[in-house]
Amino acid sequence: MYYPEELVEEVRSKSDIVEAVSRYVKLQKKGGSHWGLCPFHNEKTPSFSVSASKQIYHCFGCGAGGDVFGFLMNYENYTFPEAMKELADRAGVQLPDIQEGEEGRVREKRRARLLEVNKEAAKFFYYQLRSPIGEIGYEYLKKRELSKETMHRFGLGYAGKNGEELVRYLQEKGFEDEVIKEAGLAGYSEKYGLRSQFWNRVMFPIQDKNNRVIGFGGRVMGEGEPKYLNSPETPIFDKRRNLYGLNFARTSRSGNMILCEGYMDVIAMHQAGFTQAIASLGTAFTEEQAGLLRKYTNSVYLAYDSDGAGVKAALRSIGILREAGLSGKVIDMRPYKDPDEFMKALGREAFEERIRKAESSFFFELRILEEQFNLSDPEEKTKFHREIAKKLCSFSESMERENYLKAAADKYFINENSLKGLVERYAAQTGLTRPLERPRQGVRKKDPKESIKRDQRLLLKWISDEPAVHQKIKQYISAEDFTEEPYRQVADRLFGDLEQGKYNLAAIVGMFEDEEEHRLAAEIFSEDLPSLETVKEREKAFHDVLVRVKENSYEYFANQLTESADALKRVVDGKRELELLKKTHISLESGKAIDNL
Ligand code: UTP
Ligand code: MN
Repeated sequence: MYYPEELVEEVRSKSDIVEAVSRYVKLQKKGGSHWGLCPFHNEKTPSFSVSASKQIYHCFGCGAGGDVFGFLMNYENYTFPEAMKELADRAGVQLPDIQEGEEGRVREKRRARLLEVNKEAAKFFYYQLRSPIGEIGYEYLKKRELSKETMHRFGLGYAGKNGEELVRYLQEKGFEDEVIKEAGLAGYSEKYGLRSQFWNRVMFPIQDKNNRVIGFGGRVMGEGEPKYLNSPETPIFDKRRNLYGLNFARTSRSGNMILCEGYMDVIAMHQAGFTQAIASLGTAFTEEQAGLLRKYTNSVYLAYDSDGAGVKAALRSIGILREAGLSGKVIDMRPYKDPDEFMKALGREAFEERIRKAESSFFFELRILEEQFNLSDPEEKTKFHREIAKKLCSFSESMERENYLKAAADKYFINENSLKGLVERYAAQTGLTRPLERPRQGVRKKDPKESIKRDQRLLLKWISDEPAVHQKIKQYISAEDFTEEPYRQVADRLFGDLEQGKYNLAAIVGMFEDEEEHRLAAEIFSEDLPSLETVKEREKAFHDVLVRVKENSYEYFANQLTESADALKRVVDGKRELELLKKTHISLESGKAIDNL
């Protein structure tokens, strides 16, 4: 933890999770909880719940869950201190200077230093472009029809005729060679000493969503390889998790994002008023970038090059967008090569028209597929129809599938019923329809220990719902009986708190910094207890769970007898407690479960 626990608790108690989540997700109150569409996986009916009384959230669909800090960390990709800072600011709580561990402090310092050196380098490039040395670069950008304002807005620069001036400049500004190297701004060689790989290039500073320069792309002047040279990955430059132009696009409010291939495309689009344009960073579009986009929109237009490579890249990105639950459409740039050329030739309004006419990713895929078949040959035509059916099977939602089936039948002049038949046959053959794959994070995996875990969860939930019962069972059950993590730690803290007569579920969840454990802890308290009519039935169910948990722990320690000295005592005691427990009736309150806190 970076902050003292009391401070974390103060911020937590002054932040309402329902309000915090509502800033991102539309919630509706139903019963004791608020419900909405889960922002962490794709769904059409709400299974995402937020509890005001417990101050935790949980998705019954994908298993995501946590406290208010965890939500922001998940949703905004924040670190814990960042989430803490945001919530403290909103709640008007003053934070002291971060009290990190030594290691964290060193890391943060290093990152800050890398950001500084990048900023200084960007300044150097910026002034070079506007000095006599940078004339070639300036003329080049002018020829590409960028205005002075646009060049300024994107902080464009120029790296001069050799790679030594940048290094000298940075050294004079007090940056150590180590820092310059680690930022990927220069490399060392016997022959030249420390020298930048960036020279004779127009420089594009790459900014994160908070406008901090995290790396560079440089385009060579004239012919030369590579055409674009990018900074290597560094502790502050993660190419999978950043997008060029996102610092502007995130506030464009256009309701969509336009994904382009290159830096120049993004800049040309912004200059024409499409400030929602973004691009990946010299690498293919990633899952992480799709996740990033999902925070701002659910509709992404692809404005990739119209050549073969662009089509291939589009097909790949469509898959990634779909997996992330984003709707993808493809903009047809033909006869131009890319948005940059298109904009120069036809301008803003023509492009708007192309956006309106953009093709849904499904039909785009079919159109590309179609080209592989000779449709005048009946056999090939059948194969094509089968491929359509196969694609239709991948829609997990029947309504959506139906709609696309109708549209595809219309478009390709296929009898609707025959196509339906094909789909059904295909689905039966392969055990489809395949459900959409869920995002990796938050997915519940099948686990042979699942029933043991479930019992331990249920017991913890029961005790948290009916804390009075703890006094009655504590002679039989202790935290060590919870053989699974994080349940053991949850039990340890919960039982300790109950002894003190107060407990705070969100704070228990908040103990876990590891994302997976945090999620599992939140899941415990979100589960429903079996709904049983009579007290007698409930007491029986509770007793069964208790016995199962105890039996499991007994077996667990019995298996460890040779490995651990402590195990023997636990087995002997456990046996006695188990026998006793089996014979003991434990009464529950007759009333309904109490809301905690
Ligand atoms: P393109 O070659 O399509 O770029 O590469 P472009 O924008 O049309 O280039 P101009 O118009 O000739 O200046 C698209 C993107 O792929 C990455 C860059 O991010 C570029 O913007 N790329 C391309 C590289 O990283 N390295 C390369 O050598 C080429
Ligand atoms: Mn281009």
